[in-house]
Amino acid sequence: ISKYRPFPPVQLPDRTWPDQTITTAPIWCSVDLRDGNQALPQPMSVEEKLEFFDLLCRVGFKQIEVGFPSAADTEFNFLRRLIDENRIPEDVTIQVLVQTREHLIRRTFEAIDGAKRAIVHIYNSTSPLQRRVTFSDATREQIRDIAIEGAKLVKELVPTIPKTEVVLQYSPESFSDTELDFALECCNGVIEVWQPTPEKKMIINLPDTVQWTTPNIHADMIEWMCRHLKRRESLIVSLHTHNDRGTGTAATELGLMAGADRVEGTLFGNGERTGNLDIVNVALNMNSHGIPTGLDFSDLTALREVYERVTRMTVGERHPYAGELVFTAFSGSHQDAIKKGLDRREKEIKDNPEIAWGVPYLTIDPQDIGRSYEAIIRINSQSGKGGIAYILDREHGLDLPKTMHPQVGKRIYDLADELGRELTPDEIRDAFHRLFANVELPLS
Ligand code: KIV
Ligand code: ZN
Repeated sequence: ISKYRPFPPVQLPDRTWPDQTITTAPIWCSVDLRDGNQALPQPMSVEEKLEFFDLLCRVGFKQIEVGFPSAADTEFNFLRRLIDENRIPEDVTIQVLVQTREHLIRRTFEAIDGAKRAIVHIYNSTSPLQRRVTFSDATREQIRDIAIEGAKLVKELVPTIPKTEVVLQYSPESFSDTELDFALECCNGVIEVWQPTPEKKMIINLPDTVQWTTPNIHADMIEWMCRHLKRRESLIVSLHTHNDRGTGTAATELGLMAGADRVEGTLFGNGERTGNLDIVNVALNMNSHGIPTGLDFSDLTALREVYERVTRMTVGERHPYAGELVFTAFSGSHQDAIKKGLDRREKEIKDNPEIAWGVPYLTIDPQDIGRSYEAIIRINSQSGKGGIAYILDREHGLDLPKTMHPQVGKRIYDLADELGRELTPDEIRDAFHRLFANVELPLS
């Protein structure tokens, strides 16, 4: 057992987030092409990035971090192609990441020149651990000044690319492991340099780079920052959670309740180590509570296909919303309840087409994201009679009388047990005909 790190104390006795609920969607920013791409064993080629960029635009992202153009030629060339070939839709703003280092910032300005709008995202790491180890015992003042000098240089370079509207974003990297007063000092220092206004806001992004804290402490920290940042009305406060503790979604949802305005993340949670926040997850959670998000996941399977092909990553079978098995019920009692729920809904929807979704064990209507509930009930030795009757009815039009369900159910799941595997709907139909060949049935 490693030595436990104490959670940083957050002095917020009057916090408000436990009473808040999410009622509107945040601004979404996809970081697939940067944080996601940098974590791929085989990074995307320029062509693959272009395909992914088009996909993100079709999904509805209006802010897309397209890379770290000063870090490598491929990154630089990708950005130049986006700009020179006019591939950025009018309503989409590109974002570029750069460390607060002079030559890198200058190169970044060469990369974005000519874009209509660009968010220049500068960052430096601020936590005590990073100050000590990565920056060789740098003092707080030295670290704060790195941020301030970076912001000054960005401001100085803005007039050199007059065709491009530049928005500044600052991240105190490792925010969730940084003393709050120091994170505030760095952010306020940058805000003072940039002088944002309510009409021309800047973005303060507070990364949960490696999740040192539980989601509730993270939310307290976000609320504290929202209350203490200078010029709050001129800021967009942004969340950037990773998933090291497996709580990226919880941290983001609580962070929004705590007052943040914007969310950075990736499709299916690709990203460094355990990944970035999965935006699909958070957005569809919101949809399930009736909140429109502006993101279109109505054909999640097609989206997943492109994602898996260009990133060479896979989406796990139990992955929320997108996994192969997430609309599949194996247990007999679940199958029974789902069948009742679907039958009831079919009747109720005739009178009220707007009736809210409500089928046991299915949190959303799978059809909303391009999945179907035709195949949600599969039969193995754990299944119940209801599931088998459901398959025979829905897939093959055999409406068995209720009195036959126990007998048919038993014979068919005994067969699945004997074979030690799941049966397909066709195998169930064939087994039924074989086992009950001489029984007269009312066909529906
Ligand atoms: O995770 C992180 O802290 C980052 C920053 C560069 C924003 O990706
Ligand atoms: Zn990150």
